[in-house]
Amino acid sequence: MQERVRDLRRAFDADLAAAGDAPAVAGLRARWLGRKDGLLTVLLRDLRDVPPAERAGAGQAVNALKQHVEQALEEAAAAQASSPVTASLVPLEMSLPGRRLPPGAPHPLAQVRARIEATFLAMGFALEVGPEVESDRYNFTALNIPPHHPARDAQDTFYVEGGLLLRTHTSPVQIRTMERQRPPIRIVAIGKVFRRDPFDATHSPMFHQVEGLVVAEGIAFSHLKGTLERFCRQVLREDVRLRLRPSYFPFVEPGAEYDVSCIFCTGTGCGRCKGSGWIELGGAGMVHPAVFEQVGIDPERYTGFAFGLGIERIAMLTLGIDDIRLFFENDLRFLGQFPG
Ligand code: DAH
Repeated sequence: MQERVRDLRRAFDADLAAAGDAPAVAGLRARWLGRKDGLLTVLLRDLRDVPPAERAGAGQAVNALKQHVEQALEEAAAAQASSPVTASLVPLEMSLPGRRLPPGAPHPLAQVRARIEATFLAMGFALEVGPEVESDRYNFTALNIPPHHPARDAQDTFYVEGGLLLRTHTSPVQIRTMERQRPPIRIVAIGKVFRRDPFDATHSPMFHQVEGLVVAEGIAFSHLKGTLERFCRQVLREDVRLRLRPSYFPFVEPGAEYDVSCIFCTGTGCGRCKGSGWIELGGAGMVHPAVFEQVGIDPERYTGFAFGLGIERIAMLTLGIDDIRLFFENDLRFLGQFPG
């Protein structure tokens, strides 16, 4: 028995010397002091079979070994815990494969918005911003839409306390810019707008618009047409044609809606353009003198043009999406198709 104790002690010391980190020390504890078949536990149990005459001496030797093992394990564990490297290590299964992080990308609307912004910046426009919660004056009256004007019907919105409302278009940024800045002005404002519209394949109560405004001496309708054409060719297709149709918006005169030749059939007529060969993009026109008067710009001296367009509309056309709701449902199966 004495000899077995000596051998075990040597084996333990060798084991301990080889245990390099905290998990290894924990493993040693289980191997030596484990309740059922720890090497020392078994040794203590075997003490029963030692002849009575030798039992006292053997017991002493076994106990001394047990003390040695317990103390050495204690010290080793303490040393591991206080070592700066291993203290921070959680037991790691190094052979497991790592967790892969799927690559992210900007939202498809953010991608299209960035392209639109870059295009206007390259054309010499400055970026402006305005608040999403607006006053009635900026959203309507200063844009020549007085309280009982029927044009308000098409732009019903959400009203906030204190006479404020969620802006229905980005046109109020025209007014804010002209109040702050004298001509020449060449800006685009991009952001969220809100309407009390149903949520269906082509409407959303929140969407994004781009507003453009250019004011200076000698600005003519041809500048508007050239600007829109350049923009559409850059963002949609290099060969699109632009068409302006007379239309009415209270803050421009003359006012127009503009279309591009269908980017799917190049104008011959298909399902996407309902056979017409044209796709409607937005509204535009020459700044109304009544709007200039609101902001104290002399309409005899200055002229300007303004235009609006929807980011979702451009995104649906260029990315081939037929339901606007897809943008807002946060479904990764959809978003993952636009890696940027
Ligand atoms: N604000 C208009 C809308 O949301 C779009 C628009 C039309 C903007 C004509 C313009 C414009 O600047 O000249 O329906």
